[in-house]
Amino acid sequence: MNKEKHILLCVTGGIAVFKAAALTSKLIQQGYKVKVVMTDSAREFVTPLTFQALSRDHVYMDTFIEPNPEKIAHIDIADWADLVVIAPATANIIGKLANGIADDMVTTTLLATTAPVMIAPAMNVHMYDHPAVKRNMETLRTFGYHYIEPNEGYLACGYEGKGRMAEPEDILAMIDHHFIRKENKRWHGKNVLVTAGPTQEEIDPVRFFSNRSSGKMGYAIAEMAAARGAHVTLVSGPSSLSAPHGVNLVSVRSAEEMYKTVHSHFDQMDVIIKAAAVADYRPKSFHTNKMKKTEGDLSVEMERTDDILKTLGEKKKNQVLVGFAAESENIEENAKKKIKSKNLDMIAANSINNEGSGFQGDTNELTLFFADGKEIEISLTTKKLAASQLLDAIVPLLEGK
Ligand code: CTP
Repeated sequence: MNKEKHILLCVTGGIAVFKAAALTSKLIQQGYKVKVVMTDSAREFVTPLTFQALSRDHVYMDTFIEPNPEKIAHIDIADWADLVVIAPATANIIGKLANGIADDMVTTTLLATTAPVMIAPAMNVHMYDHPAVKRNMETLRTFGYHYIEPNEGYLACGYEGKGRMAEPEDILAMIDHHFIRKENKRWHGKNVLVTAGPTQEEIDPVRFFSNRSSGKMGYAIAEMAAARGAHVTLVSGPSSLSAPHGVNLVSVRSAEEMYKTVHSHFDQMDVIIKAAAVADYRPKSFHTNKMKKTEGDLSVEMERTDDILKTLGEKKKNQVLVGFAAESENIEENAKKKIKSKNLDMIAANSINNEGSGFQGDTNELTLFFADGKEIEISLTTKKLAASQLLDAIVPLLEGK
């Protein structure tokens, strides 16, 4: 999906240049075309050859080296870029750019480009806090430049604090989101609630009933919806996954907790996608002390949990309500029954018997059934791409609201 998207990576001199090399590699692996421009100081840290090998392209360093007489290099690459990323961005480059200084290849290119620019600052915590740096950053913000916030933590200079350049995978996520957002305007500003993962139903302080859901499908939907510019709340049962970029994660444990959390957010939501594998039953009583074993068998009496989706369907107003159905037989019949009984706009059904589909894996295969009888097949693909197709299928439902 990133084919032919042109990223111009401006690398300035700081220890985080090594992260820019990792970023270049990730961008190329994701199918972006990358050209790298380096300052003299950046070359003190990592050689241009590293970037040339990783980007599979010429690295630009000197405004006065013009290998192609038909073109002026800094104008040519400035026009070539769909997006410019300055990573790492030193206090020096931020100061020069804020004041319109153009005295090398990076700064002349930056003044010449009309593409959006993302800046990933990297510097010592006191430099980052300096009023001149703050003022310059604010000036650039008013010019329309975007920042990729540095992290807090250990800095190469030995200090602890804010100033560590964002990790390459986070910068990559912001770049992905930039392009996805541009192409999916219908999602901008929409409030989307996604549920994911299993629930855990405790029987005593150390034991619980749960299921094999990893949360991967729900997390992928949340990530892709945030990438499209939606405000995403992800209500997740216990999962080893970390919160996707730009998503508000609310962690819950039991079906009851998920019920309360989802209902407390429901009124503000435009779209609710219930990908969680919610327990249908929980132990009828909770033992406050650890249960001791006894001779013979043990029976645990279970009671029904509330069906969260059904109760949402009952109070639905303008929201688009989407359910999931993991089935081992009669997929179509069961899915269609659930659309009616839970008052859904759409249900995403998968067969847990199919290879590569369903719980825990990284891939999925889904059939989307709509309340109006329409069906869409999503053939076996990664959960992220399946999530993108699922969100595309929801767009016409938003039009009707
Ligand atoms: N669901 C829910 N609350 C529950 C159980 C399920 O909100 N207590 C939601 C799931 O998040 C999913 C959908 O209902 O979106 C379908 O869940 P599934 O377990 O497949 O269906 P059930 O309605 O529980 O029916 P059955 O167990 O008979 O298949």
